[in-house]
Amino acid sequence: MKKEKILLIVGSPRKVASTSYSLGNYLLNGLKDHGMSVETIFLLPTVNSIEKRESMFNALDNADLIIMAFPLYVDQLPAPVVKTMELIAKRRQGKVTSSSQRFLAIVNCGFPESFQNRPAEEIVCQFAQQCGFTYLGTLAMGMGEAIHGRPLIEAGGMVRHVVKALDQSIEALTKGIKPPEEVFQLMSKQFIPRWLYIFMGNLGWKRRAGKERVSRQLYARPYESSIST
Ligand SMILES: Cc1cc2nc3c(=O)[nH]c(=O)nc-3n(C[C@H](O)[C@H](O)[C@H](O)COP(=O)(O)O)c2cc1C
Repeated sequence: MKKEKILLIVGSPRKVASTSYSLGNYLLNGLKDHGMSVETIFLLPTVNSIEKRESMFNALDNADLIIMAFPLYVDQLPAPVVKTMELIAKRRQGKVTSSSQRFLAIVNCGFPESFQNRPAEEIVCQFAQQCGFTYLGTLAMGMGEAIHGRPLIEAGGMVRHVVKALDQSIEALTKGIKPPEEVFQLMSKQFIPRWLYIFMGNLGWKRRAGKERVSRQLYARPYESSIST
């Protein structure tokens, strides 16, 4: 029997140190354990190299399932992801109307609420449909900085909902079906109290400012215009 080919595209500039990679790689390892052949491409070194782009296109053409994992940047997708989507769409324009290739996205954001990802989810959905992929949905998650690029097994019990959602996704994907709606809901569930996430985030910024000796400048507004109108 033909081995299914899975391609993971990581859109975070943090590459292996990203939450996008932690999530995508967990899914990929699960699929690999079910006998699928897997490959990972990081967009940052790929998108600006003609040679690497060509090899990405080849991998994409041969993949049965494409998983694109990326962070939310300014309510949108990071520039290398947008560029890649434009390149793929241009390449497939007029050539593919529908294909058996399946497409799943994973997005994580820094705000506590997963709904911040909605505009990005809609963009990805439109992209997948225009390119003729079978769109399986977008697993969206808030509080990405609580994971901060750690492998999920190292993130402990707080990510149990995320792990469960990914395990159920693996189960569905190995059966060749779309993960059920409950999986997307489970993925988007806040996994620590909102106040704790914000408290820890503020503490992190303050510690970092102290390390850089700029604690007194945290509220500086260097670009504020001094000219009053
Ligand atoms: C330039 C930039 C813009 C960002 N914009 C948003 C945003 O609009 N909303 C949000 O919730 N998080 C935002 N974030 C936070 C990231 O989405 C968050 O840190 C995420 O966990 C990073 O995932 P990664 O490790 O996969 O790169 C932004 C981060 C950066 C660096």
